Amino acid sequence: MLLTANRPLTFFSGKGGVGKTTLASATALASARAGQRTLVVSTDPAHSLGDVLRRPLDGREQEIEPRLSAVEIDAEAAAAAHVDDVEARMARSLDADLLPAVRRHLALARTAPGTLESALFDVMTRYMEECPERYDRVVFDTAPTGHTLRLLAFPALLSAWVEGLARQREKVAGLDRMFRNMAGTEQPDADPVMAALHDRRARFERAARRLRDDAAFWLVLVPERLPIEETARAEEALAGQGLAIGGLIVNRRLPDDAEGGFLVARREQQQAYEEEIARRFADRRIVTVEQRPRDVAGLDDLGAIASALPATLTGAATEAPRAR
Ligand SMILES: Nc1ncnc2c1ncn2[C@@H]1O[C@H](COP(=O)(O)OP(=O)(O)OP(=O)(O)O)[C@@H](O)[C@H]1O
Ligand SMILES: [Mg+2]
Repeated sequence: MLLTANRPLTFFSGKGGVGKTTLASATALASARAGQRTLVVSTDPAHSLGDVLRRPLDGREQEIEPRLSAVEIDAEAAAAAHVDDVEARMARSLDADLLPAVRRHLALARTAPGTLESALFDVMTRYMEECPERYDRVVFDTAPTGHTLRLLAFPALLSAWVEGLARQREKVAGLDRMFRNMAGTEQPDADPVMAALHDRRARFERAARRLRDDAAFWLVLVPERLPIEETARAEEALAGQGLAIGGLIVNRRLPDDAEGGFLVARREQQQAYEEEIARRFADRRIVTVEQRPRDVAGLDDLGAIASALPATLTGAATEAPRAR
C-alpha cells in the first residue's frame, strides 16, 4: 500500500464554494508539470472545471497541456447509454410481447432517482481503472460533501440491490425452467441482464477496494465556522467508510501584510479559526493556500497556486510516513 499522501487517486472534497475545483485543477497541473501523466475529472453535476481551466470541456477526455487531460463526466449521457444497453439486451433475450412493458419500465428508469448517480459512479470507476496504465494520477473534483459521500456509498448499495434482484430472478428463472421442462422445451440461455448487473457490481467492488487502498481525500475549507464544522463531519464520515484522508487544505488565507481596518479584522478572525483548526485536526497534515487578489482562472493563475503547493499534495516527491 502506498503512503497516504502519494496515493494515485486524489479526491478534493468540501463545502460549496471553498475552492475544490480550483485546488483540484492546480494540483493536477502541478502533478503533470512534475512529470506524471495526470487526468483531472469533474464528478460535480454542476461542472465548473472547464471554467477554471478556461477550456470548454465535455464527457470526452481533452488534453490541456502535455501530460494533463481533463474531463467533465456527462452523467446524463452515461445513464442514457446504460439504459439503452439494458434495453438492447432485454430485446435480445425476452419474448416480443413482453417488450412494450419493459420499455415503459425503462423509460421510467431513465429519470428515476439513483440512475444518474449510478451512471456517474460507473464512469468514475472507469477512470479509476485508467490508473496506472494510462495515467499515473487521477484527480477528482467533486460536488459538495454530501453528494460525494452518497456516491462513495454506492458500491455497498449496489451490491445489496443486485443480490436481492438476483435472488428474485433466480426464483422466476427456476419456475420458468420448471414449466419449460414440463413442456419439454429447451433450457433458457444464461440471463444477459443479470450478467450485466453482475459485471457492474464486480467493477463497483473493485472500485470500493481501490478507494480504500489507492485513494486519498483532501478536505478543502476556508478559515470560517461552518466549513470547519463540515470538515469535522466529513472526516468522521470518510474514516467511518475506511477511506484515507490526505489532509486539510485551508484556502483563502489573507496575507499577513493585508492593510486597512476591515482586512486586519478579517485576518484576525481567520487566525483564531486557524488556531482552532490546528487544535481540532492536530494529527492531520494541513496545507495553507493564500487568498489571491483576483478570481483564479486559466493555467497562469493555476500555475501560481500550483507552484506553492507542497510535494505531499502534488505527488511530486515522496515523503516519510507520518507518525500517527
Ligand atoms: N485562493 C484563492 N484566491 C482567490 N480566489 C479563489 C481562491 N480559491 C478559490 N477562489 C475563487 O473562489 C470561487 C470558488 O472556487 P471553486 O469553484 O474552486 O470552489 P468549489 O469548492 O469548487 O465550489 P463548488 O462547491 O461550487 O464546486 C472561484 O471564483 C475561485 O476563483
Ligand atoms: Mg467546484
